[in-house]
Amino acid sequence: NNFLIIMAGGVGTRFWPFSRQTFPKQFHDILGTGRTLIQQTADRFVGICPNENIYVVTSPEYFEITKTQLPFLTDDQILLEPSRRNTAPCIAYASYKIAKQNANAQIVVAPADHIILKEEEFRNRINLALDFSSKYDVLVTLGIKPTRPDTGYGYIQFDDTDVNEVKKVRTFTEKPNLELAEMFLASGDYVWNGGIFVWSLQSITKAFDSHLPEVADAFRIAQKHFYTDKEKEALDTAYPRCRSISIDNGVMEKAENVYVVLSDIGWSDLGTWKSVYENSEKDEVNNVIDGKAMLFNVEDCIIKTPKDKLVVINDLKGYIVAEFDGVLMICKKDDEQKVKEFVSKAEAYG
Ligand code: GDD
Ligand code: MG
Repeated sequence: NNFLIIMAGGVGTRFWPFSRQTFPKQFHDILGTGRTLIQQTADRFVGICPNENIYVVTSPEYFEITKTQLPFLTDDQILLEPSRRNTAPCIAYASYKIAKQNANAQIVVAPADHIILKEEEFRNRINLALDFSSKYDVLVTLGIKPTRPDTGYGYIQFDDTDVNEVKKVRTFTEKPNLELAEMFLASGDYVWNGGIFVWSLQSITKAFDSHLPEVADAFRIAQKHFYTDKEKEALDTAYPRCRSISIDNGVMEKAENVYVVLSDIGWSDLGTWKSVYENSEKDEVNNVIDGKAMLFNVEDCIIKTPKDKLVVINDLKGYIVAEFDGVLMICKKDDEQKVKEFVSKAEAYG
């Protein structure tokens, strides 16, 4: 009964020059482990969810990469969105698709671009959430102990008097401003939303009905044509009817039956070069090296270059040296917020 929805439609340009419109980060082996982020995401669910119950939601332009990287998927398991409408429509599409397979499905929704270092503990938390959500009408999310007032995450205030492992959520605040984030961090009863959700098909469709009825309606109509040759046409009608809205803003902030499983799982939303640096193995002088490099007096650097190119560097500290598909970027690690600027300006160079 367990199903997995992998959300893989984002582009993630902060990882430029690796993450590109044509080849986003979830399809890269960012950490140099031998598996790409989306492959690692699927790997994590071995033993929880059979391969035939895994659905990937992405854009048509990533169909081939998805198929190549996850060869066990049939075409029916790769759901192609005619346009990006953020995560609520993405989850709705997959849910209504799964509904045609199994009305009693238990669903895990996972982003394709996270890393989780403690795999056993992760599986244990997911199983706990699956068990709980099979018994009650609830929306469960994994909660991560926050370490900084990051405004890129959702914040969950849980009921700290609840002694159960799956705790009632009091408030859910998606991407607060810095002032709020600092307050949440200080108060001690907030965790980050890990962006990994667990619920029954029944509970999530009910939640769509209550909180995003236009999305529910659009997909309920389209659903009649799923698994027929009219599916694409039906989606072309459904998507424009949905506004662009995340599951966090559209459902989690509003619902009253949200629960959280506190999870110490070595979680990271690999958003930035810095997060790659922090999560990668370093040599004795703190370099992260993925490539063929000859280094003299080089420290605290990330070097991620093609395997067939020898890179020689003399006297460099605290830099990112990254090359992919015709672009070489050399940028101070501390200046990585400039990457966004590089991305937009690089367009002029084709
Ligand atoms: N198919 C599809 N279509 N996938 C999408 C779309 C879309 O329109 N938009 C985003 N995604 C995918 C992304 O590729 C990513 O894997 C996942 O959905 C989450 O989207 P993000 O855009 O990365 O969300 P976020 O990181 O800003 O925020 C979410 O994750 C945080 C934790 O990493 C929220 O759930 C936050 O509350 C949470 O803290
Ligand atoms: Mg993210």
